[in-house]
Amino acid sequence: MLTFHSPAKINLFLRILGKRPDGYHELASLFQAIGLMDVLHFSLADEDQLTCTDPLVPTDHSNLIWKAVRLFQSKTSLVFHVKIHLEKNIPMQAGLGGGSSNAATTLWALNILLKTRIPTETLMQWAGQLGSDVPFFFSSGTAYCTGRGEIVQSLAPLSQRNVTIAVPSQGLSTPLVYSRLDLSTLPQRDPLNVLHHFKANPQYFNDLEEAAFRVLPELSVYKHSLLSQGFEMVLLSGSGSSFFCFGSPSLPIKNTKAVHFVQRTEGTWY
Ligand code: C5P
Repeated sequence: MLTFHSPAKINLFLRILGKRPDGYHELASLFQAIGLMDVLHFSLADEDQLTCTDPLVPTDHSNLIWKAVRLFQSKTSLVFHVKIHLEKNIPMQAGLGGGSSNAATTLWALNILLKTRIPTETLMQWAGQLGSDVPFFFSSGTAYCTGRGEIVQSLAPLSQRNVTIAVPSQGLSTPLVYSRLDLSTLPQRDPLNVLHHFKANPQYFNDLEEAAFRVLPELSVYKHSLLSQGFEMVLLSGSGSSFFCFGSPSLPIKNTKAVHFVQRTEGTWY
């Protein structure tokens, strides 16, 4: 049996540049992997099986893990069955990329399990067919992502930070948040300029935050309560509904988790 960690991500900044003819949005975002991790166990078997510690996670063909298995099979023309167990720790519909990370981890694991030696660059390209956020997980763990998110430029690690992930009770659907975006109201920041000055002068912003507040107005209240409890900076991750926070609150806050940035070194997984 092979076991791999599958990390969550946050978007330190997320700029939406416009809507494309294919319905996706052109974005520019600084992605960072964090130490909030699912754990996946893989073994070859006589029949396919996916089990999960969380009964709310669908284990049928709709799970991106199966889509990753089918993609790997069609790309390699290999015939096999696999048994997968998912220890779910990353909340769903949270903007933390949990499903995308599980799919990336599955491609990585199958490449080892089947001894196929497919280059990481190729796995990363395949990953784009599974979802916009999936290729990021083949980066160094810190990456500037453009296009619909699938064009990934790995970066050197940023200075380590204590991050708190705060998870509200309600999740958010990514397409719904995008559909409530008002492009005309977004500040016209130049993402490359923000990136180049990020180490000396980090700017944390998320062009999807207002759209998420339109879908779920309670989220704005939740953000302000986190700020009033002592965090210095609170920002929606991806399309939400979770927030990442810097600073230390005066008292412990429920439904939060303290994590660090994590990296991937070449040839190994997280
Ligand atoms: O690529 P993925 O399947 O994760 O995208 C889910 C949905 O999120 C898309 O169908 C689209 O509605 C929205 N999306 C978008 N622009 C992006 C990424 C996602 O509009 N760059």
